[in-house]
Amino acid sequence: MTGYDPSAAAGQNVVGGYTLMDRNIGALNKTPGDRDSFGLAYQWGRKDPFPGSDGSRQGTWIELSDYREIWNGEGYQKLRAFMLSPEGAKGCPGCYERKVSPCKSAFKPVEGVEGAEQSEAWKNYELMVREIDEGKTELSCKPGAVMYYPSLACDFRCVMCAQAELRDQNIHLPERMDKEVMDLLPYMVMFHIIGGEPFIQPAWRRLLEEYTPELNPCLKFEAITNGALVNRSLLDKLSVFPAVWITFSFDGSTKELFDSIRVSKAGFEVVFANLLACIKHQREVGEARFKVNASMTVQKSNIHDMVNMLRLIREENADITFSPLMMQPIPLSLRHYNDAPTEIDWAD
Ligand SMILES: C[S@@+](CC[C@H](N)C(=O)[O-])C[C@H]1O[C@@H](n2cnc3c(N)ncnc32)[C@H](O)[C@@H]1O
Ligand code: SF4
Repeated sequence: MTGYDPSAAAGQNVVGGYTLMDRNIGALNKTPGDRDSFGLAYQWGRKDPFPGSDGSRQGTWIELSDYREIWNGEGYQKLRAFMLSPEGAKGCPGCYERKVSPCKSAFKPVEGVEGAEQSEAWKNYELMVREIDEGKTELSCKPGAVMYYPSLACDFRCVMCAQAELRDQNIHLPERMDKEVMDLLPYMVMFHIIGGEPFIQPAWRRLLEEYTPELNPCLKFEAITNGALVNRSLLDKLSVFPAVWITFSFDGSTKELFDSIRVSKAGFEVVFANLLACIKHQREVGEARFKVNASMTVQKSNIHDMVNMLRLIREENADITFSPLMMQPIPLSLRHYNDAPTEIDWAD
């Protein structure tokens, strides 16, 4: 795919004891400035890459392109062609998404709702599956699963937040994006809003104004949240969606630990009370309609607390996922120790 030979010393860069490739995955050459040298870009360690861009209108640079140009642009067409190729079809070893194809699991329309099968979203989903089966790289279906980051604005200041530096640059998507995304509402099977904090975004308020179950009876709404605003009144607003999946970021089982990581005015008590209210709501309406889970970003300061977190959440009969802090910030990362024997005392 890249013309890069991992067994040849030429072209390898060794930095801090790690061997790095001389190009991004997917780059077709390594000629500086050549658009084929951009390859795939992985934002903040996300597993799904963005095709790299030289900033021309065929790229993924949202300031210049509208989503249609990106959806069927050169970068995505190349990515789809690769995924359809025998090499791409193999995927990465052990990849969950490969074992349980997203088309057949996570991104399915919500079932069992009146009118669902006649809806535009259902038809768009079926068209997408057909087009993928036919091996098309230019799709006439619209994006059916949208993950939207309107801005990085947030009411918390978590010590490890990977977005901290970018947040200070006050980066926002162009205003037209909210409209482009809302115009897709009838066709989506999943809309996931992140941030920053999703529930302080104007796009969230706009979604509530524009969405009705009649517009799309099989839409699943998802959000990853700091949980400070997910109270009873917000749960009532969420009940408009046929299915909801909320992930609470929760990084410590005690007030002291939680508040030392997730720095906010709301604090442990408010977030935990909201999480419990969500768990109760899940019990009342059933997991098919409302699912909540906790997610812990494991870092140096809280790795000793994983078992307590597991107990705390499982005692409430809810689920928790653990994911490691990414490379940054380095002082909190589990991959960087100055004096491992003293810093890894949690192993006892
Ligand atoms: C960036 S936040 C956005 C949504 C929301 N504000 C929240 O905290 O859930 C999404 C997730 O990224 C996690 N996160 C923040 N900084 C991270 C880092 N340096 N490494 C790995 N995950 C991180 C958060 O704990 C949260 O679960
Ligand atoms: S709540 Fe989320 S976005 Fe906000 S600072 Fe914490 S991790 Fe970052």
